[in-house]
Amino acid sequence: MQVVMKNTTRLCATKPIVTVNGEFPGPTLYAREDDTVLVKVVNHVQYNVTIHWHGIRQLRTGWADGPAYITQCPIQPGQNFVYNFTVTGQRGTLLWHAHILWLRATVHGAIVILPKGGVPYPFPTPHKEVVVVLGEWWKSDVEAVINEATKSGMAPNVSDAHTINGLSGRTPGCGLDEGFRLRVVKGKTYLLRVINAALNEELFFKVAGHQLTVVEVDAVYTKPFKTDTILVAPGQTTNVLLSADRSTGRYLVTASTFMDAPVVAIDNVTATATVHYEGTLSGGAASALVATKPPPRNATQIATGFMDGLRSLNTRAFPCNVPQSVDHSLLFTVGLGVNPCPSCPSGRRVVASINNVTFAMPILALLQAHFFNIRGVFTADFPGQPPARFNFTGPPSTMNMQTTSGTRLYRLAYNDTVQVVLQDTGVVTPESHPIHLHGFNFFVVGRGLGNFNPKTDTAKFNLVDPVERNTVGVPSGGWTAIRFRADNPGVWFLHCHLEVHTTWGLKMAFLVDDGKGPNQSLLPPPTDLPAC
Ligand code: C2O
Repeated sequence: MQVVMKNTTRLCATKPIVTVNGEFPGPTLYAREDDTVLVKVVNHVQYNVTIHWHGIRQLRTGWADGPAYITQCPIQPGQNFVYNFTVTGQRGTLLWHAHILWLRATVHGAIVILPKGGVPYPFPTPHKEVVVVLGEWWKSDVEAVINEATKSGMAPNVSDAHTINGLSGRTPGCGLDEGFRLRVVKGKTYLLRVINAALNEELFFKVAGHQLTVVEVDAVYTKPFKTDTILVAPGQTTNVLLSADRSTGRYLVTASTFMDAPVVAIDNVTATATVHYEGTLSGGAASALVATKPPPRNATQIATGFMDGLRSLNTRAFPCNVPQSVDHSLLFTVGLGVNPCPSCPSGRRVVASINNVTFAMPILALLQAHFFNIRGVFTADFPGQPPARFNFTGPPSTMNMQTTSGTRLYRLAYNDTVQVVLQDTGVVTPESHPIHLHGFNFFVVGRGLGNFNPKTDTAKFNLVDPVERNTVGVPSGGWTAIRFRADNPGVWFLHCHLEVHTTWGLKMAFLVDDGKGPNQSLLPPPTDLPAC
């Protein structure tokens, strides 16, 4: 992958953006289950760069995970690094993206993992497969947007449009941007590999006049589930079957914002594309576009209904290995806060935290500090419970909710089982948070509104066929419970995948020690690992 600047035209204007190989979105990486993948990343731009293979488990190969200062020092201008990892026990769609600054706005692309040779899908073989990358377009320079916000302590501007495969569909007349067109043949079935690569927006995705059948999320098969709208948070992927079973014609596709927080600025510019049946004659009624209305931006019920419908496939070939008991039962509050800021115009700064800890980025990669036993880079004392119990989702708290800052990790022994209840807070405003865990898939065993109640809510957990994924939405003013097994030694980032919240500090990391058995320890770093 060549990381290069490229002049790119969208919304009727041209600007230089950071790309991989000059493409927006970037190229699709194809692999097969069990393949070893080597990607040489060459940095030709003025920024430091790293690439993260979002959702790839990286068993014992944390060095190739990619989050800057967590598992590696960045690839500096003029340098390169070879990411070397094996795709173990995963098949489906994931994404790769830059994991430093806000570069992932334009530096991202699909990962398609095909099943092992000769192994069929657990659903009818589609006629064709199509990658659908949802994203955003910013008229201004994205790094300038976040730098300004960081200086002022306030929220950054939102993007200017959403995109579907790099096109907004909003500006016919500017040539390039009339929208992505999916050509279909009547009677055939298509597998759409839908990816949300946007920085800050959860997106509804919908095709006029057609139902979608969900068959996989985050590279794990699901029970087939029919719906007319899917919800995809940043970092999530969803494979759906689309049957071209309507009469010949053109059908509108929309990608629109889901945001049910009361007072947040949003980008509500819907991106559009079309499904175009072969043989549709131009002119006349038959070629008229069949329209659809995207759900309202605060359509909580549609979002909830969709998430409730997702279940692990849970067959003999693809069992659901949800831990039935847990060694660590953690409660993490996730939310925003306000700290004093003498240098900010308002005297205050918006921050975000987990259990009131605003994560401080280290200057050396945590995985290196761990492996080489370098002291003073982090502490292994991340709190497993919030500092105080309060009405998390009630009116803004009267307690002192200033956050503390620290590079604190939560330590796990190899193979420990972990439950984390992710509890949204309304300290500034309740807001939905798509939380992503590196290095693992987890099972989403429960979800609800209000404050988590350990007694009544735990009794209702699904420990049979909960959906397995790597990124999950914590509902605005609610909670989500996940479980995973710590069978991957290393340092693993957990953070909100809304980039603005990550920047504000909604992040932490787990430190998983080596096991004692064979193949239970972190492999040594590659020799070309960049230095800080
Ligand atoms: Cu897709 Cu840590 O990110």
